[in-house]
Amino acid sequence: MGTGYSSDRKISGSLAGGIGSRAIAMVLAAGFLSVQAAMATDLPEGDASRGEKLFSACAGCHQVGEGAQNKVGPHLDGLIGRTAGSVAGFKYSSAMRAAGEAGMTWTAANIAEYLEKPREFIPGNRMSYRGMPRAKDRADLVSWLKQISQETPGQAGATAEVVAAPGFADVVMQIEGDPEYGEYLAGECVTCHQASGHADGIPSIVGLPKKYFLTALFEYKNNVRTNEVMKLRVQNLTNEELAALAAYFENLEPQ
Ligand code: HEC
Ligand code: HEC
Repeated sequence: MGTGYSSDRKISGSLAGGIGSRAIAMVLAAGFLSVQAAMATDLPEGDASRGEKLFSACAGCHQVGEGAQNKVGPHLDGLIGRTAGSVAGFKYSSAMRAAGEAGMTWTAANIAEYLEKPREFIPGNRMSYRGMPRAKDRADLVSWLKQISQETPGQAGATAEVVAAPGFADVVMQIEGDPEYGEYLAGECVTCHQASGHADGIPSIVGLPKKYFLTALFEYKNNVRTNEVMKLRVQNLTNEELAALAAYFENLEPQ
């Protein structure tokens, strides 16, 4: 990849003046980004083939490559150079949308910084991912994302579609949940999961696709997932209650 990270240089260069610095100043003034987020540094060229394997940490939530669609997270096609929070049909947090509205675009360097500490890079974003501590891992992963992103230019407008996967959540998938009843039941959930959708140590469940949400809850019911707190929370919920909760959280707007 002889071209290097030209998109980073464009961003760093624009810090000197013009629209770029105004946009970044707006972002900082609004308090959405930490200072290091604006000072994108060059990233060493990574090992893309190793990066492809590291993507397994993301694949539960993100699709990338031809035909990628929004899942729990937005699709990552055409990511380098893409405006933050801009994929049509995906429910972003207002923090992520605001970063994009203030002019933030994804570069190899700022993706790596986001992945190191997602919660600190854009406070209030709703990606429930702990972070990737090793710089080498981040460089390798971003290098692969950069490659795949060039191969498959953005498919803005790709919409979320529930992938048919047979399993125990199917019965409840058929039930039309009552979101108002769901809101009532959710009172018990939002003591831990923030209604704003912010992922502050406890995963964000706002805007989760129904299929993912129900599968997760069934997995706690059936001991596939072992978290004791959640197992206790779901063991007495009826199918109607689960469907209502799924309907409520799926349509809740992240803040
Ligand atoms: C538990 C699910 C989950 C995991 C795991 C996850 N993400 Fe995310 N990701 C999200 C969500 C949800 C958002 C939207 C955040 C928001 O709106 O605040 C997001 C946003 C992003 C964005 C910003 C996209 C945009 O359109 O602005 C990037 C880049 C990203 N994730 C990359 C990754 C990478 C790379 C990994 C793996 C190291 C990863 N994510 C792991 C759920 C996840
Ligand atoms: C006492 C705190 C607490 C309460 C109350 C609580 N949860 Fe959770 N929830 C958690 C924790 C912690 C996890 C992560 C557990 C794990 O690692 O498996 C979790 C995980 C989840 C997940 C999986 C998220 C993912 O990204 O895979 C869903 C869905 C969920 N909870 C829904 C609910 C619903 C619906 C309620 C209300 C009926 C609820 N929770 C009540 C603490 C709580």
